[in-house]
Amino acid sequence: MEKRKYHIITFGCQMNKADSERMAGILQSMGFEYTDNPDEAKILVYNTCTIRDNAEQKVYSYLGKQAKRKHSEPDLTIVVAGCVAQQEGEKLLRRVPEVDLVMGPQYANRLDSLLEQVFAGNQVVATEPVYIYEDITKPRRESDVTAWVNVIYGCNERCTYCVVPSVRGVEQSRHPEAIKREIEELARQGYKEVTLLGQNIDAYGRDLPGSTETGRHKYTFTDLLYYIHDVEGIERIRFATSHPRYFTERLIKACAELPKVCEHFHIPFQSGDNEILKAMRRGYTRERYREIIDKIREYMPDAAISADAIVGFPGETEEQFENTLKLVEEIGFDQLNTAAYSPRPNTPAATWPNQIPEEVKSDRLQRLNRLVAQKAAERSQRYLGRVEEILVEDVNPKDATQVMGRTRTNRLTFFKGDLKQLKGKIVPVRITEARAFSLTGEVLLPAGCC
Ligand code: SAH
Ligand code: SF4
Ligand code: F3S
Repeated sequence: MEKRKYHIITFGCQMNKADSERMAGILQSMGFEYTDNPDEAKILVYNTCTIRDNAEQKVYSYLGKQAKRKHSEPDLTIVVAGCVAQQEGEKLLRRVPEVDLVMGPQYANRLDSLLEQVFAGNQVVATEPVYIYEDITKPRRESDVTAWVNVIYGCNERCTYCVVPSVRGVEQSRHPEAIKREIEELARQGYKEVTLLGQNIDAYGRDLPGSTETGRHKYTFTDLLYYIHDVEGIERIRFATSHPRYFTERLIKACAELPKVCEHFHIPFQSGDNEILKAMRRGYTRERYREIIDKIREYMPDAAISADAIVGFPGETEEQFENTLKLVEEIGFDQLNTAAYSPRPNTPAATWPNQIPEEVKSDRLQRLNRLVAQKAAERSQRYLGRVEEILVEDVNPKDATQVMGRTRTNRLTFFKGDLKQLKGKIVPVRITEARAFSLTGEVLLPAGCC
């Protein structure tokens, strides 16, 4: 009998990508077969994001099309997972009655038992907060070179603009042993790089049992880095996302000291203005943020810094916005994800009367993006003529004669080469062209090699 096919459409952040890989692993182990064509899939999973309103609306427009299909194909199963599912719950079923299963992000590991209920003829909503238990299924990963590894789920911060704590729940750190076992298994499968994931990764460990009465937690993220560092076969370790409030000098030292930890730090600052930071309830000032970056550069002068920033937060004046521009100018980010503030359900800032008009937000966003591209291009110049170690991941989707990989500092780099020979290898590449967000080079290999 032909196997039923599934397809997963993923929106949003790395956390969702990692969850989708786990859900794909569960579907495989249930005997379903992957198809890259959503129209021929009999099980369709939308793993959704609600960080901004446009992310949420995108989900509904995709869903609309497939929901119609269900009328002629009653054996189609539609699953809405992730953050919109958590936020909307039952409401989603009322809006799109063709949906069979609505499941929050904490249920990614339980997809099999939820689907059993659906196959028994039920429409199911799973959004009650639960403890996320350890995986037994192997994720079906997109890459076979570089892998996501969750270390902490959820977020206990209360940034006034942000929907994440209400959709991802409270912090739950995985046990260090479980994380190490997963990384060892990845190494056995031939993976070369891991990216440790958490919404607020530096909070790792504070919820683990064993925190001592002396006030010092038994386990911090820095301890975890030391603990997992030596797994044989893994050559690079990355992590995201860091919160400036918890980014310690001890962590910076560890990153400088541990050779596999790459010199790239993603530390969102959100705004360069202290009043706005306070209204956002971020718990640091622009001065503190600059100190952290200075400290990183003191230990690792070539480190790449990336961040996220929001423009048009309620009440943001032109002058306050210019403080964000100034910070970007001063720090010179290698990359910056920018967004116009979007009011979100169940967040305090959404109810404030001092909202900024859309035209002002989009004007600020364009101005900031121009500066970001200029700064990133300047930062890229430093690579010209240098020899960088590139971990080869895949073929360049735009040029089949080239492969692509990343520098330790996370710059995407293209060069001529054969993927079959180079995949998963770290090779020296001389950089010959530098663009704002990517590089081109030529591989330096000893004669006769590869
Ligand atoms: N945990 C990370 C970020 C998670 S959300 C941190 O604390 O920085 C990813 C990014 O989305 C945020 O950094 C922020 O820049 C953006 N974002 C979150 N809520 C937003 C909103 N309501 N409007 C616009 N951007 C938002
Ligand atoms: Fe959202 Fe703040 Fe938590 Fe980041 S730290 S996920 S911005 S609440
Ligand atoms: Fe989006 Fe949820 Fe991630 S809202 S950004 S998918 S945590």
